Amino acid sequence: MARITASVYTSHVPAIGAALDAGKSGEPYWQPVFQGYEASKAWMQDNTPDVIFLVYNDHATAFSLDLIPTFAIGCAAEFQPADEGWGPRPVPVVKGHPELAAHIAQSVIQDDFDLTIVNKMDVDHGLTVPLSLLFGQPAAWPCPVIPFAVNVVQYPVPAGRRCFNLGRAIRKAVASFDQPLKVQIWGTGGMSHQLQGPRAGLINREFDQAFLDQLIADPATLAQKPHIDYVREAGSEGIELVMWLIARGAMNDSPPRVAHRFYHVPASNTAVGHLILENT
Ligand code: DHB
Ligand code: FE
Repeated sequence: MARITASVYTSHVPAIGAALDAGKSGEPYWQPVFQGYEASKAWMQDNTPDVIFLVYNDHATAFSLDLIPTFAIGCAAEFQPADEGWGPRPVPVVKGHPELAAHIAQSVIQDDFDLTIVNKMDVDHGLTVPLSLLFGQPAAWPCPVIPFAVNVVQYPVPAGRRCFNLGRAIRKAVASFDQPLKVQIWGTGGMSHQLQGPRAGLINREFDQAFLDQLIADPATLAQKPHIDYVREAGSEGIELVMWLIARGAMNDSPPRVAHRFYHVPASNTAVGHLILENT
């Protein structure tokens, strides 16, 4: 049977991708950001999964206000990189895992979560920047990736509680897939940031560190946090953090092992947070 071995959490700041692609990762501004992922890249070499289930949000790239799925699962064989702003990144095509994706869709939908099945979808910085941070600049990504897009851009967005419970349904779905695959689940986006309005540039280190502590130690309580708290405390785009609860909900109920923890400000307009949790 397949099993979830670990979960990875990371911000997806697009300027990080642009810095890497432009060969600027050694510059004084960016060096501390990339330095924080060196241990993660080494860990990933020793713990390369067979498949990554990557929870992220689309930033009006594949979807627009014409069509806003709350939860969309990528079931295609491959996904082309695309992006707003800087344009498509020069990164490898993302290969999917249609068989596992279809199995998870079947199981999770039967468990009362209404997923949108997506058979053609471009993927933006929300998905490609986390891959770059954890794998660097390979000629091909080291394993298939199932993109799982969550609407955290246009209200109403899903509650943290629902995201956490969805993670549990994904855990059950993976555990019933009849192939011995090691699956990682990644929760991306965040941490505190606000890109617009009078509070643009907002960062809240205390909120972010408390979020990391509670995500590790007591995610069920963290899942009760209402939207308004994210927006007030972590800025309008801080709501991206609810996606981390999907990955955390997919982990075993026993306490995880913290393989790596990193936090850094500044990176563009966002506080960069990163965790690797291993199932025990
Ligand atoms: C930034 C962060 C994001 O999460 C995003 O989607 C776009 C921009 C930023 O910090 O600049
Ligand atoms: Fe974002």
